[in-house]
Formats: sequence, C-alpha cells, structure tokens
Amino acid sequence: MAQTVSVKNIGLRGVTVADTKISFIDGNQGILIYRGYRIEELAERSTFPETAFLLLHGYLPSTEELKVFAGKIVEEAVVEDYVYDCLKKLPKESNPMDVLQAGVPLLAMSDPDLYDESRSANVRMATRLIARLPVVVAAWHRIRNGLEPLPYDKALTHAGNFLWLLTGQKPDEQTAKDLDCCLVLHADHTFNASTFACRGVCSTRAHMYSAVSAGVGALSGSLHGGANTKVMEMLLKIENEPDIEGWIKNQIESGQKIMGLGHAVYKTMDPRAKFLRPMATRLAKARNMEKWDNLSKLVEKTSVEEFNRRGKTEIMPNVDFYSAPVYFMMGIPKDLFTPIFAISRIAGWCSHIIEEKFGEAQEKPMLYRPQAEYVGNYCGLMGCEYSPLPER
Ligand SMILES: CC(C)(COP(=O)(O)OP(=O)(O)OC[C@H]1O[C@@H](n2cnc3c(N)ncnc32)[C@H](O)[C@@H]1OP(=O)(O)O)[C@@H](O)C(=O)NCCC(=O)NCCS
Repeated sequence: MAQTVSVKNIGLRGVTVADTKISFIDGNQGILIYRGYRIEELAERSTFPETAFLLLHGYLPSTEELKVFAGKIVEEAVVEDYVYDCLKKLPKESNPMDVLQAGVPLLAMSDPDLYDESRSANVRMATRLIARLPVVVAAWHRIRNGLEPLPYDKALTHAGNFLWLLTGQKPDEQTAKDLDCCLVLHADHTFNASTFACRGVCSTRAHMYSAVSAGVGALSGSLHGGANTKVMEMLLKIENEPDIEGWIKNQIESGQKIMGLGHAVYKTMDPRAKFLRPMATRLAKARNMEKWDNLSKLVEKTSVEEFNRRGKTEIMPNVDFYSAPVYFMMGIPKDLFTPIFAISRIAGWCSHIIEEKFGEAQEKPMLYRPQAEYVGNYCGLMGCEYSPLPER
C-alpha cells in the first residue's frame, strides 16, 4: 500500500531557511540590494572588484583597500600548468559549464589554504576563485579551438581581461565597461538555487571549492543560469521565422516556456533586466546589429501581452533575457553566456559560503537537514517481505 501525502511548499517557495546580511530582494517592487546598496546605484557607479569586495566584506572599500584587493585579483589570476594539461585532454565538444565544474576541484588541488578553516583563509580562497574562474573559462575556449591560453594582462580591468583572454584582442573601453557592469548585476541574488547549493554543501564543513563546484552545477540548469544560452538559441531559431508573434503564442499555448521570462521571486520587471535592456539597444546601434534588439523587444512585447491576456501579469523579462543579446552583440559565443554568469556569481557564492561557515548572520553554523514526506511503497513499520530473486 503506498502512502499518499501531499507535499507542502513545493520548491521551497516562500520558505525562509536562514538569515543573511548579504543581499535582499523585494520581488513585488523589483528591488535588489547588496549589503544595503541598490543594484542600480552599484551598476552605475561601482566596478566588479569593488562590488565583490562589498559582498565579501560587508562594506565599500577605501581607495587603499580596493587597490590591494584588485591587486590581489591580478596576482592570483594564474593557473597552474597541470590545470591546462587536464583541460587539453578533455573532449573538445565538452560544454564549458561542465568543464568549469570539473575545473573548480582542479584549482582546489593546489590551493595552500584548502583545509584551513579560518575566515582569512576562506577570504583568500574566495579571491583566488574570483581571479581564476575567468582564466579557466577563457582557457577552455581557446583550447577547444586549438589555441594556447593567454596570460592575464595587468593593464586591463578584470572584465577587460576576460575578453582579452578569450579572443587575444584588447577590448575597447566601452565593451570592457559594459561587461564589468554585467558582472556587477549578476554578482549576487539571495537564496537562488546555486547559492543554496553552495550553502548546503559547505554547511557539512566541506571546503569552499566543493561548495562552488555544486554551485556551478546548479547554475548550469536552463531554469537558472542556463537560461541566457537558451534565450539566444531561441532568438537564433526564430530570427527568420515569418510569423514570430504566432510562434510565441503557440509556444505559450502549448505549455512551453519562453526562456528569459518569469521569475520565482520577482512579480514585476527584474531590476537587472531594466538595466540590460537599454544596454542592448545602445550596443545594437553602435554595432549595427539592431536586428537582435528589435527581435528581443518583439519577443518581450508579444509574450507579455499574451501572458497578460491569460491573467499571468507577473511574467516579465528576467536578467537572462537581455544579457543574452548583450553578450551575443559583444561577439561572445552563446555557450559561454552561463560561464560569464558564474565568473560574476562566484563573488556572491563565496560570500554566502563564508557567511554560512562562520555563522555570520545567525547564532551558529548549522548543518542543513530538511525533511521529506515519504509517499513511496509502504508495508508498515516492519517493512515489506523480501522475496528471493528466483521467486520474483
Ligand atoms: C524562472 C521560473 C522557473 C520561475 O517560475 P515559478 O515562479 O517557479 O513558476 P512556474 O515555473 O511554476 O510557472 C508558473 C506558471 O507560469 C508559467 N510560466 C512561468 N514562466 C514562464 C515562461 N517563461 N514561459 C511560459 N510560461 C511560463 C508556467 O508554465 C506556469 O503555468 P501554469 O500555472 O499554467 O502551469 C519560470 O518563470 C521559468 O521557467 N522561466 C523560464 C526560464 C528562465 O528564464 N529562467 C531564468 C530565471 S532567472
């Protein structure tokens, strides 16, 4: 006899699992705050290294502190040869998110602080991860194309370096600035699936790299960070579609998702998307690529109208909807969109791991151990009778 018990709180929606001092979302008003600062303010005035410092340490750095932190990132943006040797042995068609997830434990193996459970050691590991994730992503892209990885260029910004490491060409200032802004926008987002994965893993006292590796895996899914790649695949699929509106309506009618729309927390426009939309328009004009901007806007308009017609007024563009055309217009291959999300979110993941490990927002660190309702096969507390193999 099977038990039938309904599960409450499917997907943990609305369930508070911890206190945090790192970020805050008001999903109804479309507000995102890192350590007290509105995302709009940071996107306009901060830089990714400064935002990463803010997330890690809880306050905006002084000029000297920022200089030291940014200098540390430059110093640590070096990957040991064995990492490149391992990447060179991987199948060339491997997905960059799988490679990144495999790359994180590779980086762990030469980190001298790996099993030092002090806060300062965890901050040093966080700085190395922030510095090295872009190096691994870019190196993989070059290796899969038969090219040698490049060394970090001290004269460029962190975002500029990613573009340089990827292409071997120095990016123009505006493109590097735009990418830096994208990194600021993606750096944290409270208890999303990948951050929760990181916090769950490190609550067992596993080291930071194990937790980050879990975060990369969670981020790769198409309902989470993987959505930006899926948005671009959709735009490329429908670019020559004679009836784009009809295609969208049919997609919604048949219960298919329009990628980049909707959010588990925002019931209005995602504040990050509000920032990326004008960036896409500006890039499209500057690069003569208006087609992609127009297409994105058409998909947004048609989908939102169709959702409104169905009474689902809360389904609006999220961060992935406009980051996809932005990266595409920057010339970045679409399967690197989610790794870019990761090279930004690493700042948030590490901050959450430190907060979790050191109980910085609650009384003491606690192992996550939720419960589930058992609704499977059940023959009473004595258990079902085991029948030998030949008798089954
Ligand atoms: C992000 C997401 C999983 C959050 O959804 P959620 O709040 O958990 O809600 P659900 O997925 O259960 O969706 C609720 C309803 O809205 C619909 N819906 C939500 N987002 C939709 C979308 N992008 N396209 C079509 N329908 C959507 C669902 O089909 C569901 O309809 P139903 O009630 O008739 O079954 C969802 O909006 C989604 O899958 N979006 C596309 C993927 C994406 O962009 N992910 C990145 C998030 S930053």
